[in-house]
Amino acid sequence: MPDLDQQRFVLGLTGGIACYKSAELLRRMQDHGADIDVVMTEAATHFMTTTTMQALSGRPVYTDAWDSRVSNSMAHISLTRGARAVLIAPASADFIAKLAHGMADDLLSTLCLARGACPLLIAPAMNREMWEHPATQRNVAQLRADGVMILGPGTGDQACGEVGDGRMLEPQQLLQEIIAFVQPKPLAGKTVLITAGPTAEKIDPVRVISNRSSGKTGYAIARAAYEAGAKVILVSGPTALPAPYGVPRIEVETAAQMHAAVMSQARSCDVFIAVAAVADWHVVNASDNKIKKTAANQPPALQFAPNPDILAEVAQMPGGPWCVGFAAETESLHDNAQAKRQRKGVPLLVGNLAQDSMGGDATTFVLFDDDGMEELPRLSKIEAARRLIDAIAKRLPDRA
Ligand code: CTP
Repeated sequence: MPDLDQQRFVLGLTGGIACYKSAELLRRMQDHGADIDVVMTEAATHFMTTTTMQALSGRPVYTDAWDSRVSNSMAHISLTRGARAVLIAPASADFIAKLAHGMADDLLSTLCLARGACPLLIAPAMNREMWEHPATQRNVAQLRADGVMILGPGTGDQACGEVGDGRMLEPQQLLQEIIAFVQPKPLAGKTVLITAGPTAEKIDPVRVISNRSSGKTGYAIARAAYEAGAKVILVSGPTALPAPYGVPRIEVETAAQMHAAVMSQARSCDVFIAVAAVADWHVVNASDNKIKKTAANQPPALQFAPNPDILAEVAQMPGGPWCVGFAAETESLHDNAQAKRQRKGVPLLVGNLAQDSMGGDATTFVLFDDDGMEELPRLSKIEAARRLIDAIAKRLPDRA
């Protein structure tokens, strides 16, 4: 089922050049099944036409508190009733100030004041000086205290030519935040540490030994944990994937670096999920210079030494996090996975068949714990990840 299936949102646009991104945001939300009513302030109509937003949303666009198309003249009430949330994107400095002071002098501000229990999310968009101004910061703090969710802002190049904080988040980032917003929050208040991707063990400055892990499963789990309300730390080997929005990523290459990064974080985490395909050995006699072919074309005599078992070590840490291991096997999944769970000393181990999952966008998780095994259906990686996070949350013991 699409993430926003049959959910109706009110998308409010206020005056800012970022209005052009709102058309794309609306589209992406529709891709995920959302129905969207658009409300625009007068200022927003200078940056985006109502015709564009009407054509994209397939619904009337509202700009006026006195709109005669609404038979009871109560658009400010009726639009939010039954809506999943009001999302203001872009939210200008002026509109944020209005919200903070409870003003209601146009349809959008009136609708926000009259929205009752309907949640309000805002995506600020303004020049960096306007964002940093104490008045704006005061207003934003007030909105947070009032329970409004602030999405962003982002940082970088601004339409005015300056660089800094204040850009509206990109449509894809806002979409991820909205999808996260509608997910249940069984890991609220928890910190989750996740390893993902392959490691790459150096042979010489241009050659490594690595594996085929794409990182997709680990990244999907990081995203699902974030959606579930956790603070997430992702320790990732080399992948081509962008970090899920809202998840800080520590980038590593070798198993030794992954080990060091995990050990520096693990003690303060509630859950550790080891998804990475960690190399079992590293090359002891790696060369500082590129290894050249010899006249006889002899292959180099590489010597290997074992890498630390990160998962087993964290699992043994006194007072350490609750640990989840992974086993990507090519055969005898059940026997290998249960044996691995015992060997690593973890309460939950997730098995999957490498040939069924590696590099692809779908997977079948089999959960192994003290009670036996449970096979989940074949699902997209994000859906499988959400099911896993739910299973973890249900098993997580209360920590003192
Ligand atoms: N793991 C780890 N550190 C290692 C090796 C593995 O943290 N040095 C973790 C993986 O992230 C995974 C689990 O241990 O969660 C199982 O990894 P796997 O490579 O399948 O296990 P191994 O112990 O290496 O067993 P084998 O290669 O013999 O299957």
